[in-house]
Formats: sequence, structure tokens, C-alpha cells
Amino acid sequence: MPAIKIAPSFLTADLGRIADEVRAVEAAGADYLHLDVMDGHFVPPISFGAIVIEAINKVTDLPLDVHLMIEHPERQLESFAEAGAGILNVHAEACDDLPAIIAQIKALGCRAGAGLNPETGIDAIEASLAEVDQVLVMGVNPGWGGQALIPETIGKLRDLRALLNQRGLRTDIEIDGGVKVHNAAECAAAGANVLVAGSVVFNDNASVEDSMRDLREALATTEAKS
Ligand code: DX5
Ligand code: ZN
Repeated sequence: MPAIKIAPSFLTADLGRIADEVRAVEAAGADYLHLDVMDGHFVPPISFGAIVIEAINKVTDLPLDVHLMIEHPERQLESFAEAGAGILNVHAEACDDLPAIIAQIKALGCRAGAGLNPETGIDAIEASLAEVDQVLVMGVNPGWGGQALIPETIGKLRDLRALLNQRGLRTDIEIDGGVKVHNAAECAAAGANVLVAGSVVFNDNASVEDSMRDLREALATTEAKS
């Protein structure tokens, strides 16, 4: 397994200083920026959209991992691709025709991700596994940062990695929600190779630099074994 990637998410960051927060995680060795788009329908809150992502893209060289927690994502994909998205993640629950939407994402020149809520089984995306670049496994119910990891997620990561291995696929598995210093290695050992890091990186207790370092150190044991 290649090195585990860390994708900071900004829901608990200081959004009044977003450019500084972006530069801080980039300097601290982030691999992607994870950008949570919420529409007030698929999930209750509304966060931000393509124009904010376009502004963020101007202050970073990191790939933008855009997480669309929105209904009818097919209507919005083009604007997010134009805003600079590198990876476009849609939710299986929000897609009437997931294969067509994945094809649409790829035609726009982006990598395609398929997301699963905690209640949604792997079977919802099984038919598209060969087509997606990444599966985003929610570790919490989507909508808010700072929640605790739902323990069943670990088994789901294991099952998904086993299924991918069985099919000879090296698809990325991104775990999103509830990743902390104490469970990061467990998530990686279960098969996740991209870790979304929200409140574990953006919190009132430690600097972004220290938090990113703690997370990397926690992962070092798993990486040394693989
Ligand atoms: C939740 C978002 C997550 C969230 C993660 O709906 O998709 O990306 O920001 O935050 P933490 O890491 O604090 O659970
Ligand atoms: Zn997310």
C-alpha cells in the first residue's frame, strides 16, 4: 500500500482566515484539501459552493478533493470542475444513475469518487467499483465536523478493501468523519489509504502543524508494516 494520504477538511477551521488555514495545512504536509459542499437538502446545513472553491484553488497547489453532499450532483459537476476540483465525490444515495454520473465526472477531466453514508451498504456501488478512482466511506452521518467515528465503519473498510483486492482493483478508500489520532492507524490497517482530517487538525487545543505531526506519527506504525 502506498503512503497514507491526509486530506484536511475545513468545517471546523477559522473560515475568516481560510487562505491562511489552507497555507498552514499545505506547509504541514497535507496531500489533498477536502472541501465539503452541503446544499441544505441532502444534509441539513449549507456550507459553500464553487465560487469559494475557485478562490481556494488560487491560493494552493494541492489537489482539491470535493465532497458533494448535494442532491442532483449531475447539475453541478461542470461548475465544480471549472472551479478547480481534482476529485469529485458524489454520494450513491443522491445519484439516480451512478454509472452515468461517474462517466460525466471523468469526461470533465476529474477523478471520480463515490460516497457511502453509514447506513448504505457497499452493494450500492458494487457495480461501479471498476470505474471509480475512490470510494468515500463516511465514518459519521454527514453534515457536521467533530463527531465520533461510528465503530461499524472499521468492518466496512475491511470488507470494501477485501472486495477490491478480490477484483484486483487498487482503488483509493477515503475515510471521512471521526478520524482522530487514536483511531487513524486502525482506519489505515482496515484498508483506508486517504484520511479526511477535520477537527483533528482544526481545533482549539493545538496548532495545525502539531496536529498534522501527531496524525502522521500515529500512522507511521501502520505504514512501516505495509
Ligand atoms: C462531514 C464532512 C466531513 C467532516 C469531517 O459531513 O463530510 O468531511 O468535515 O470532520 P471530522 O474529521 O471532524 O469528523
Ligand atoms: Zn467530507
